[in-house]
Amino acid sequence: MKDIESREDLLAVVTDFYDFLFQSDVLHHFFLKFKDSDVLDEHLQTLVDFWDNTLFYSGTYTKNAMKPHLLLSKRNPIRPEHFEEWITLFHRAVDGRFQGVNAETIKNRALSIATVMNLKITQE
Ligand code: HEM
Repeated sequence: MKDIESREDLLAVVTDFYDFLFQSDVLHHFFLKFKDSDVLDEHLQTLVDFWDNTLFYSGTYTKNAMKPHLLLSKRNPIRPEHFEEWITLFHRAVDGRFQGVNAETIKNRALSIATVMNLKITQE
């Protein structure tokens, strides 16, 4: 298995990840607006921008990713068990295709960002 090296690789990860999210009993309700929708492609590109920036410091994502989640959680509470499932599925999407330093780094970053996000949401 190869390591994550390009935007194409990141797109493969987030595409598999969203397939898992749509099938998850715990999480699918958060993602209904993207299911079978033409806004999904645009959203996946935003996620590729985010991970490209987080992993390779590409400058492709400059927004605050916390904000939409704080708003979302006001309407539709995001709880610790949701974050646990999110992390499990994200790691599964990475491990299904990639192995190496970048694959390990992206999983660690996902875990630390999810941990901070969970804390911020709990404190709101
Ligand atoms: C259970 C936890 C999570 C849920 C339910 C969730 C759900 C969502 C939803 C519904 C959106 C679309 C928001 C919108 O368009 O209004 C979104 C966007 C996004 N999420 Fe999450 N998310 C979670 C955790 C995370 C984590 C841990 C990260 C980062 C490691 C992350 C990164 C992003 C990014 C980068 C966007 C795009 C924001 C933008 O449009 O600039 N999410 N998330």
